[in-house]
Amino acid sequence: MSEHGGNVLEMALKSGLDPAEIIDFSANINPLGMPASLKAAIIEHLACAEYYPDVEYRQLHAALALAHQCQPENIMAGNGATELIYSIVNQLRPRTALLLTPGFAEYRRALQRAGCQIENYPLDEASSFQPDERLLQTLAERRPDCLFLATPNNPTGLMPDPALLQAIVNCCRRYDIALIVDEAFIDFLPEVPGLIPQIGDYSRLYILRSLTKFFAIPGLRLGYLVSSDRPGLQQMKQLREPWTINAYAALAGEVILNDGAYIHQTHQWLAQQRAWLFDALATLPQLRIWPGAANYIFLRCLRPGFDLQQALLQHRILIRHCANYPGLSADYYRVAIKSEAANRTLIAALQQVFADG
Ligand SMILES: Cc1ncc(COP(=O)(O)O)c(C=O)c1O
Repeated sequence: MSEHGGNVLEMALKSGLDPAEIIDFSANINPLGMPASLKAAIIEHLACAEYYPDVEYRQLHAALALAHQCQPENIMAGNGATELIYSIVNQLRPRTALLLTPGFAEYRRALQRAGCQIENYPLDEASSFQPDERLLQTLAERRPDCLFLATPNNPTGLMPDPALLQAIVNCCRRYDIALIVDEAFIDFLPEVPGLIPQIGDYSRLYILRSLTKFFAIPGLRLGYLVSSDRPGLQQMKQLREPWTINAYAALAGEVILNDGAYIHQTHQWLAQQRAWLFDALATLPQLRIWPGAANYIFLRCLRPGFDLQQALLQHRILIRHCANYPGLSADYYRVAIKSEAANRTLIAALQQVFADG
């Protein structure tokens, strides 16, 4: 089983704490909670649990297509982006893949399950964990069957340089490398359109989106894949297990992308709290932090051998340790950006932890 953030129950059981008392900074979920428009829609349509959802999810695909100004045939919705990572790997059946490290764990799991040979492309601290032109050279030399790229990356929250991203798309098209761009967090960056408008330029460009983080529905689960590879998507839809998206999640996809007020409020909260938390973390000399663009901040604890996650758990705060990301040591952590009150609690706890230690 892969280890992710958000595992409050397990951490509470291990530490003898009451899970209800723990503030979870380890999963990057919008603290505004699920949109009121969605709660109202679920209550109104509570009875939809009594029926099978449309096995082809026609209304859901139409709503997502409308939101992205493409056709329903260009979209496949899934039970979170995670289901679609596995579907696309099963569809592509790549023999070789290039993975940037550190990166999200499920790409590797899906590729390993399909028997794919994985080559790591290490990002290092000296380059601020950012890819550069050398990646283009590696792609040209190694010609993997596929490349996964998260924009912004997890755990760093960093976006690749836009010109480089464009060059990566061009390079993949030139060498017929399937490019899966994971935009699970891109809704948090209002000024970045992402690559969906470009799907027409390359049929082996696949864009992954997730609604679980931005709209705070990780328990409901909804994600989607967008591509101009209509035959590929059609085949994936035919091969999938039926009804993987529950009726309320399908309903969510038809409602939340229209909730402009919630989207605007989220962008306002994030702009304010990201700046505040970043500045507050920057005052702690025991930490090195990276200026992520998403709703989380990646950091390194500079105090040798110090277990910051355990120390903060004593203050009923759970942060994500990043020791299980290939290429990272136990010194690296990721914290979600939460409400003003929660962020203040985190900073106060950090100040105390470092003063005590
Ligand atoms: C980069 C990235 N992609 C995809 C996912 C999966 O999202 P979902 O909840 O939609 O399955 C995550 C979850 O943490 C993630 O960090």
